[in-house]
Amino acid sequence: MSRFKHLISIEDLTKDDILYILQKAEELEFYAKGTKGDKINLLEGKILANLFFEPSTRTRMSFESAMKRLGGDVINMTAQEASSIVKGETLADTIRVVSEYADAIVIRHPLEGSARFAAELSSVPVINAGDGAGQHPTQTLLDLYTIKKESRLEGATIALMGDLKYSRTVHSLIKALTLFNTRIYLISPDALKLPEDFLEDVKGDISEATLDEVISEIDVLYVTRIQKERFPDEEEYRKVAGSYIINSEILSKAKKDLIVMHPLPRVNEISSDVDLTRHAIYFKQAFYGVPVRMAILCEVMGVALGEVKVG
Ligand code: CP
Repeated sequence: MSRFKHLISIEDLTKDDILYILQKAEELEFYAKGTKGDKINLLEGKILANLFFEPSTRTRMSFESAMKRLGGDVINMTAQEASSIVKGETLADTIRVVSEYADAIVIRHPLEGSARFAAELSSVPVINAGDGAGQHPTQTLLDLYTIKKESRLEGATIALMGDLKYSRTVHSLIKALTLFNTRIYLISPDALKLPEDFLEDVKGDISEATLDEVISEIDVLYVTRIQKERFPDEEEYRKVAGSYIINSEILSKAKKDLIVMHPLPRVNEISSDVDLTRHAIYFKQAFYGVPVRMAILCEVMGVALGEVKVG
């Protein structure tokens, strides 16, 4: 019996559900690495449909990798010009049809609410891989996994920096972090602040700060790219482009065990000299997407993980 059928918003999960997925991801991490000869075929015979109406590297490919590591198969619709969307087929009809071809659907779409809409029409589980500036719950689960493994989750002090207005990864993550007794600092240019109505909805120890004020105190610095594609006006984007850059000099004031995270892709907000420091965790974070998505796929497809043995 699955704890959840669809995964649309991080708010669909309880703290207990989240910890369960993180625990299962830990058990599956060995297999996510694909060590030669070590296979686990929990999803053999199952098919995942990847429907991406927006570009993606990590989310799409790590779902594909996760499914294949579990012995399953993947069908993809990535180039809209190669699908019947160009003939005018609606999202609703696409979902109705694809849900007959697969055992679960992963969807990324520019419209907020699109994944929830898809779940209402689909006969199989739907996983939200990003709906506009709305939510990105599987990214949040892998972010929590990264924080738990590489730092500490319960009681951590975390700075969220960058485009807090349009970043769906931040919108999902803040809601989850408040479940773990964290202190959250918000660092952004004025034009990219977290929307006020969003803040009113979230209860927790959350305050605005500058990086200078908190750099020596934080356990996690979570940096985001400015979401150029969500700006209604190119001129507005140009005003804030390049307005924050993390480099190794700034990090010299940080705690030794500070971790720097980024959902990626980055543009120029983390300078490449940070990659060589002990603080840089973002590439490991991208890898953690595989075991976490393996755990999510097993859960929505109703495959018991109780028997998984590490190694
Ligand atoms: N982090 C993330 O969602 O990356 P992609 O856009 O490459 O999937």
